[in-house]
Amino acid sequence: MKMMVMQRHARLMMFFVMSLVKVSSAWSTPQVPCFFIFGDSLVDNGNNNALLTLARANYMPYGIDFSEGSSGRFTNGRTMVDILSRLLGFRNYIPAYANARTPSEYLRGLNFASGAAGIREETGDNLGQHYSFMEQVENFGNAVRVIRRIFRGNTTRVSDHLSQCIFFSGMGSNDYLNNYFMPNLYSSSYEYSPKTFASLLLEEYTRQLTNVYNLGARKVAVIGVGQIGCIPYELARYNTNDNNNGTQSHCNNKINKAIAIFNKGLVKMVNRFNDQFPGAKFIYVNTFESSKDLVENASSYGFEVIDKGCCGVGRNNGQITCLPLQQPCQDRRKYLFWDAFHPTEFANIIYAKKAYSSTSKSEVYPVNIRQLVMA
Ligand SMILES: *[C@@H]1O[C@H](CO)[C@@H](O)[C@H](O)[C@H]1NC(C)=O
Ligand SMILES: *[C@@H]1O[C@H](CO)[C@@H](O)[C@H](O)[C@H]1NC(C)=O
Ligand SMILES: *[C@@H]1O[C@H](CO)[C@@H](O)[C@H](O)[C@H]1NC(C)=O
Repeated sequence: MKMMVMQRHARLMMFFVMSLVKVSSAWSTPQVPCFFIFGDSLVDNGNNNALLTLARANYMPYGIDFSEGSSGRFTNGRTMVDILSRLLGFRNYIPAYANARTPSEYLRGLNFASGAAGIREETGDNLGQHYSFMEQVENFGNAVRVIRRIFRGNTTRVSDHLSQCIFFSGMGSNDYLNNYFMPNLYSSSYEYSPKTFASLLLEEYTRQLTNVYNLGARKVAVIGVGQIGCIPYELARYNTNDNNNGTQSHCNNKINKAIAIFNKGLVKMVNRFNDQFPGAKFIYVNTFESSKDLVENASSYGFEVIDKGCCGVGRNNGQITCLPLQQPCQDRRKYLFWDAFHPTEFANIIYAKKAYSSTSKSEVYPVNIRQLVMA
């Protein structure tokens, strides 16, 4: 009897220890071999640092709450992909392509994102140099060549490896912000209706993502464009009597409607990839929808200011972005926006968690990133 109890204890103990091992290995071993990122300033982590551009954030107070200081991230702390990389079990952040050097970095994944970048080539030119989506995809092609060399030309190994990686693609914001809704510098809004413009963007987006697929990507999370009509920059620009009385419920509807057309097309694009491209597992992450939750339930998330940047100049701290050495707000945890355009780290944490584990079909479709890992 005693013996049996002891054996049982031993077995339980063993089970306990093994579960501990399992838990700790879940923490230290990434769930996927690699994580690659395409995007704009929402997820750029330093690719623009050496470029001649106004779209740069490698100065204080950007990064004021980040362990590595002003790295080029356009927020006070971590970006959405920094947090996603932790949720995926990576111990280190995914490096900027511009700074990546070692073979292990190439194998683990790279961040190609570039502030001011758009799907259209001319997008963001008003701010200076950047890597457009097409150039980001070309850089991914260069990275795949490096990976092929690391695997000694064994293309089976390359495609096995890449087919397990998670790809994050967040493009389109600047095609509205720094193109379509900047009519004094860009002619697109005179030439195209919102519907035609969205179709043109989707055509080009599909073409580039097809290249990404052909280079070996299978698991791709396509991130929707957020409610740009509600960011401090647009609230400051369109602070007209008829559509703004100081609350975020009075966002610029014209902008949000145009974006909704594009986002709807993204869902169709994701479905098409899944239907027509063998092995493709694309998902759509609806940050437009998620941001409604952050605003509607702001107080339950602890946000007190949703219409002003924590750091910036002018109306809503939204007319000019956060300048070098400017004093930001003290209580960054209470702000939804860090500057005129970009969410605070705390908002990024919520967006990342939603993308990773939301069970709401309106936020993640058809599955979340955690399920995409296992797909
Ligand atoms: C390529 O790698 C695969 C998987 O590791 C292996 O089975 C195969 O033999 C390799 N092919 C060549 C030509 O080395
Ligand atoms: C803002 O205006 C709308 C109507 O245009 C009104 O419903 C809303 O209550 C107003 N909000 C505030 C805070 O005044
Ligand atoms: C706000 O929170 C409630 C309760 O969790 C939820 O039912 C509702 O859908 C949220 N609002 C939005 C816009 O997501």
